[in-house]
Amino acid sequence: MVQTTEEMKLPAFGYNIWTADGDDVRMFGALPFTTRMTIVKLESGGLWLHSPVLPTPQRQRAVERLGPVEHLVAPNKIHSLGIAPWKALYPSAKVWASPEFSKRHPDIFVDTLLTNDVKPPWHDEIDHCVIDGHAFLDEVEFLHKPSKTLIITDFIQKHETEHTSWTWRGVKRMVGVLGKNGGVPLDIKLSLRDRPAVCDSIKTILEWDFENLILAHGHCIRGGAKREVGRVFEWLVGPNQQNGDIE
Ligand SMILES: [Fe+2]
Repeated sequence: MVQTTEEMKLPAFGYNIWTADGDDVRMFGALPFTTRMTIVKLESGGLWLHSPVLPTPQRQRAVERLGPVEHLVAPNKIHSLGIAPWKALYPSAKVWASPEFSKRHPDIFVDTLLTNDVKPPWHDEIDHCVIDGHAFLDEVEFLHKPSKTLIITDFIQKHETEHTSWTWRGVKRMVGVLGKNGGVPLDIKLSLRDRPAVCDSIKTILEWDFENLILAHGHCIRGGAKREVGRVFEWLVGPNQQNGDIE
């Protein structure tokens, strides 16, 4: 998080796309995670907030300086934290959520559940793909076309090693999410309900035209991201998927 003495300035990630760090959270009440939301400015001038972190007054002012909040996106049923608080601040914002979100959070208002046949008003600028066939994760991945940025929430994690105890670094290394060499968490790899369906979804994403990667948890990538995303999914789709757009 970049911060001046009085106001927060959100770091630009690329053309019309910014990130904002949230508070650390603890998975299962123990495992520490950093969190990040992504903000896209649409050609309309309105903002699209992906996996919104809790809105502090500073974060709210920093976001408002970029434009009016028009869309709030919950990319999977786990990432619900900031949806209702931002909706309370901007009642006219539309809420978009993953296919299973409302079953887990019936108390959170959602305008539209994102399935692959939904065509949101932002589809010319942001493509989306639901990962089908996973046992517990109903994640929707996004491509911000103007900046060629893939936005992934939990399917790829590359947790920072700083400020993490030796014990947690060991756990994160064991489940494959530690540092820049992190990838698909072991529990996600081991919970495929329909492997061919998951594989087809990942192949769709690998066909997208992207160079950069924003993650909700850990290190992002500027340039050459397709090679890395191909690498982390090689166990599922095979090595040939890396061909084509390697920078
Ligand atoms: Fe997460």
